[in-house]
Amino acid sequence: MSLISIFDLSLAEIEAIIEKGEELKLKRERREGVKTRKYLEGKTLALIFEKPSTRTRVSFEVAMQELGGNVISLNWNELQLGRGERIRETAIVLSSYVDAVMIRAFRHDTVEEFAEYASIPVINGLTDLEHPCQTLADLMTIKAYKKKFAGVKVAWVGEGNNVCNSLIGGAAITGMNMSVACPEGYEPAEGIVEKAKEMGCEVEISEKTEEAAVDADVLYTDVWVSMGDEEEREKRKKDLKIYQLNEDLVRVAKEDVIIMHCMPVHIGEEITEEVMNSDNSVIFEQAENRLHAQKVLLLKLLNY
Ligand code: CP
Ligand code: NVA
Repeated sequence: MSLISIFDLSLAEIEAIIEKGEELKLKRERREGVKTRKYLEGKTLALIFEKPSTRTRVSFEVAMQELGGNVISLNWNELQLGRGERIRETAIVLSSYVDAVMIRAFRHDTVEEFAEYASIPVINGLTDLEHPCQTLADLMTIKAYKKKFAGVKVAWVGEGNNVCNSLIGGAAITGMNMSVACPEGYEPAEGIVEKAKEMGCEVEISEKTEEAAVDADVLYTDVWVSMGDEEEREKRKKDLKIYQLNEDLVRVAKEDVIIMHCMPVHIGEEITEEVMNSDNSVIFEQAENRLHAQKVLLLKLLNY
């Protein structure tokens, strides 16, 4: 099994990941990590990065180390991939060395092609279309605070990007509703919205931030300029200027709204310092949960 899209997981699988993730989180807090140190003994995970990363790289590395496995981090341009070797041959060769591969790539079809030719599990560590590992940690965080998924209103403010697409998928699988506020031309991927709607998920898309934020249980935002979009920086800053998670939006949301952001943050752009560090913010816990959720994902994919 691989994790290329959040839609690869069922509700039961997501719930099991969250439950086990909470267990592992507690074990780690109680410094009982020693008990997990043999789970993936002898297994090796390769991480391939075509784009920068802090959380994804470090959380996967630490996850493997704490589960007793090995990890190799590789930058695209250090590999022959950077000199034009094809994905398919790389996938076949790496499958004979390691037990699983995580790839962060520009194009989604790069990860799909890798998975097609690999004979080992492949994990999408972010593409231009999706970020399913982020969504797993997000769902774990939402469940911890809201105690349920059904009927929870998630309001997304900003570009309907990769993180938003996977979150819409996560909402569809778990029974949450999504309200996306974005400018014209920055909507989430049509295929993902359609699929979510077919699953019975209410996905509202408008240009009005306050409308989206009204009575929200979760307020979520992400950068105005994603990796790979730097050439459009000035245009995006202008187009997305009013799509900021600030006090005005918090005021119209539910009183116990949680503030989420996948990070990295650009203070003063998509979020204010005040909101990021407010009592409602769960941003750092959300980042921490990457570690716990991915540990369970690795155990699942590596048949522990
Ligand atoms: N949220 C996230 O994936 O962060 P990095 O880009 O630092 O990995
Ligand atoms: N949307 C951002 C997310 C980073 C984790 C990007 O793709 O750069």
